Amino acid sequence: MGILEKHKILEKNASLLLVGSLLVVTIGGIVEIAPLFYLQNTIEKVEGMRPYTPLELTGRDIYIREGCYVCHSQMIRPMRDEVERYGQYSLAAESMYDHPFQWGSKRTGPDLARVGERYSDEWHVAHLTDPQSVVPESVMPKYGFLLNREIDTQDIQAKLETHAMVGVPYTSEMIEAAKADFAAQADPDSDYAGLEERYTKVQVRNFDGQPGVSEMDALVAYLQVMGTMVDFSTFQPDPNR
Ligand code: HEC
Repeated sequence: MGILEKHKILEKNASLLLVGSLLVVTIGGIVEIAPLFYLQNTIEKVEGMRPYTPLELTGRDIYIREGCYVCHSQMIRPMRDEVERYGQYSLAAESMYDHPFQWGSKRTGPDLARVGERYSDEWHVAHLTDPQSVVPESVMPKYGFLLNREIDTQDIQAKLETHAMVGVPYTSEMIEAAKADFAAQADPDSDYAGLEERYTKVQVRNFDGQPGVSEMDALVAYLQVMGTMVDFSTFQPDPNR
């Protein structure tokens, strides 16, 4: 019996064909997936990445709560038009501490992956309070109420612990100091040094320009750190990774 006749048996028997197809797909799947279990790391290691400070992490939660991701992506693709508009394309390592990640696919507004340090804090506060006051044709909603909302720091430690559980390298020292670190980042007058030791290049200032720590402080602190952790003047991503 030739190979063609043999194959006919398979083609005429639906159950046999199903079993055969599953077998082929399984082998293909194992070949693709199995090596990943033996790799130490599938993400290129880059210098500068650190976990979010308690204030930035709180801001990130507000970003998610307010649905900013519905209109904004955080993923610059390696295409010329995107790189020219937004800057260096995003690396996988830059979102390795994001749970859940905010890559997104909807861009009603611009990508925000590298918005950090592009505008002043005052610009952000004015823009979030009344986007049309700075960009007249903007369709972005107003978020001025964030200025009047103080943050309850009761769950800040638990928040860090939760992220540690899913693999973010928060040390027990970071978790213990979470409340103090939170307050210190929005208070430029404190002479507290721990925050700077634990979080490299952390930006310490009164982000919203008013007393107390508001949700606006946290959100602006988060926006200002976005895409700034890796120093691309000294780091060149490996194009083959
Ligand atoms: C309904 C869609 C929509 C939502 C929701 C939205 N934005 Fe926007 N956003 C826009 C649009 C459109 C622009 C461009 C015009 C402008 O600058 O206002 C923009 C611009 C921005 C910019 C300036 C980016 C740049 O590079 O110029 C920032 C920062 C920003 N948004 C942050 C936020 C944050 C934070 C939230 C959530 C609190 C949010 N946006 C929610 C639509 C939205």
